[in-house]
Amino acid sequence: MKEQKLDEMFSLAGKTAIVTGGAGVIPSAMSKGLLKAGASVCLWGRGRSHPIPDAVAALREETGAGERVQGVTVDTGDEQAVSEALGETEKVLGFPTILINGVGGNIGKRPFTEIETEGFEQVLRLNLLAGLVVPSKVCANAWKDRETRGSIINIASMASYTPLSGVDAYTAAKTAVLNLTVSAARELAPHGIRVNGIAPGFFIGHQNKALLIADEAKGELTARGRQVIDRTPFGRFGKADDLEGVSVFLASDAASGFITGVTIPVDGGFLTHNI
Ligand SMILES: NC(=O)c1ccc[n+]([C@@H]2O[C@H](COP(=O)([O-])OP(=O)(O)OC[C@H]3O[C@@H](n4cnc5c(N)ncnc54)[C@H](O)[C@@H]3O)[C@@H](O)[C@H]2O)c1
Repeated sequence: MKEQKLDEMFSLAGKTAIVTGGAGVIPSAMSKGLLKAGASVCLWGRGRSHPIPDAVAALREETGAGERVQGVTVDTGDEQAVSEALGETEKVLGFPTILINGVGGNIGKRPFTEIETEGFEQVLRLNLLAGLVVPSKVCANAWKDRETRGSIINIASMASYTPLSGVDAYTAAKTAVLNLTVSAARELAPHGIRVNGIAPGFFIGHQNKALLIADEAKGELTARGRQVIDRTPFGRFGKADDLEGVSVFLASDAASGFITGVTIPVDGGFLTHNI
């Protein structure tokens, strides 16, 4: 049998990936990794505060990937719209077989005793329905229909392992992301569909910036931001390129084809913290 070369193992040439929340800091960093490995990438996003055409233009400029980067404006919580977005993506870039579920995030911070039902539900919908269930269901059904292998990558969080204070809906949702990654992996494995996740430590994103950074110009952190750095053995926030390699590894069947149901922390050692 011909031995596979390392560069072939990590090549995604000829593959198409969907990256939801593609204008976000973390999904955009993961997209860069896939583009470097030769994939075509379609950024999906709702485009309210971060328009998808701007994200496409920025990624083209940063990577030189040109037409291999495209975008579709879609609310990933809307199943009908997601089915249409899948068709649109296929038309411009070919049939996608990789899905990165990058939509998600937290909204606000308040004690448990002051939880508001509406806000709590909004965060669950954002992270679990728009951020995982709806796009995964639509893609997995399409892959089953065409008898095609597929790879799904979900985004968990440090909150998936130990609750972060004041963000209970986010903690509940991200714990469920770990669990749903395992249950979907179990159900979809017989169809050749792998479901894994990454659990980023702390990266400065659009939604968590205010919680962590007090004054960007002066480089001053909030008390919470300082606590995070103190608990991170590498002593820094995550950088975008920390996420590229793991994204390529999990997306590539040749590199991780027997791996499913796992979530890999990319956290500078945050989870190892002890006294
Ligand atoms: N930044 C961090 O430190 C960190 C750490 C761990 C996990 N995460 C997770 O990583 C993922 C991305 O986080 P980020 O910090 O890059 O966030 P971000 O806010 O920068 O990006 C999220 C993107 O999703 C889009 N979006 C929101 N709802 C949508 C919907 N219904 N349909 C389509 N698009 C929608 C937003 O417009 C935004 O562009 C989230 O799941 C987040 O919880 C982030």
